[in-house]
Amino acid sequence: MRKTTRLIVKTICATIAVGGVLGALGGAMFAKAGWYNIGALAPHWQFAYTFLEYGMHESVRHHASAVVAPAPPDAASLRAGAALYKANCVACHGGPGVPMANFAKSMQPSPGPLVDAARRWSAPEMYWIVQQGIKTSGMPAWKYHMSDAQIWQVVGFLSHLPRLSPQQFAVFDAGVTAAPMPDGPALLAGDALRGKTALGQYACQSCHLIPGVTGSKTYVGPQLASFGRQNKIAGQLVNSQANLVRWITDPKGVDPATAMPDLDVAQQDAVDMAAYLATLN
Ligand code: HEC
Ligand code: HEC
Repeated sequence: MRKTTRLIVKTICATIAVGGVLGALGGAMFAKAGWYNIGALAPHWQFAYTFLEYGMHESVRHHASAVVAPAPPDAASLRAGAALYKANCVACHGGPGVPMANFAKSMQPSPGPLVDAARRWSAPEMYWIVQQGIKTSGMPAWKYHMSDAQIWQVVGFLSHLPRLSPQQFAVFDAGVTAAPMPDGPALLAGDALRGKTALGQYACQSCHLIPGVTGSKTYVGPQLASFGRQNKIAGQLVNSQANLVRWITDPKGVDPATAMPDLDVAQQDAVDMAAYLATLN
């Protein structure tokens, strides 16, 4: 019995070893033959892209775990961060109302906007990314081009970015209107279950596809299936509870040109709807 077990283990080990050697040989031949298309016109395969992105995320998390963030930035350091961002980052990442440069549109992987970066990364992680860069992605390391304090200023500004309208972004570093968009007062706790019923009672589902609220397929308003993950409401306001309640109760007050009608929603009903919509992701 023992002998058979040993034989099985030996066979498995040998198979893994031979498989490993064959795999390495195959990989070497594949590279030597030059079959892989290294050109940036062809995008990565979705599978390769997802795998690389996953690896990048885990690597950043691991390496940034020892970084400690300083105190939150004050108004002056936010403005300094904005100036640094415009000078060094906007060409690749764009900004609210500002497109990326042509060359950055065609980079592989695409640098992408950073308006939602603070949602995906903690401040220490963003600090690490900016300081160290991301190998083979085109994201430069800034360690030798910015001081530590400057990197933290940029990181502070990145956390502030989702709150800025295009107009505010344009003048932010000059300190002309440094005030972020108003977030409204803190609100009562919402009841998501009540909110779900209320959405149906105000006919929200007649224009919006809302998971959990029965309705037919409609394309009048944007679908709200992953609303909880969205950064902005109707492209105008930061997605916060207070702003969502403001939008639901007074859409025309936020954007006079919007096609979303004022449905005369009571404050508490809007609070409950907001609680439900926040769960959708
Ligand atoms: C030459 C172009 C380029 C410049 C300039 C540049 N970046 Fe990047 N950046 C990239 C690329 C490419 C990525 C990788 C995107 C990916 O892998 O999805 C990236 C990724 C990032 C990420 C992680 C993004 C995410 O959403 O996961 C952050 C944060 C970032 N850059 C911040 C900055 C900051 C701050 C500056 C300015 C100091 C800057 N970058 C300048 C090209 C650039
Ligand atoms: C007659 C159609 C209609 C009805 C009814 C309606 N909406 Fe809208 N809604 C819209 C349209 C159109 C937009 C896009 C507005 C814009 O971007 O200016 C919108 C936008 C929104 C947004 C922002 C979506 C996004 O992707 O940013 C939310 C949230 C929203 N509506 C919630 C509601 C709620 C809650 C109700 C019910 C009280 C409701 N809507 C009823 C048409 C409607």
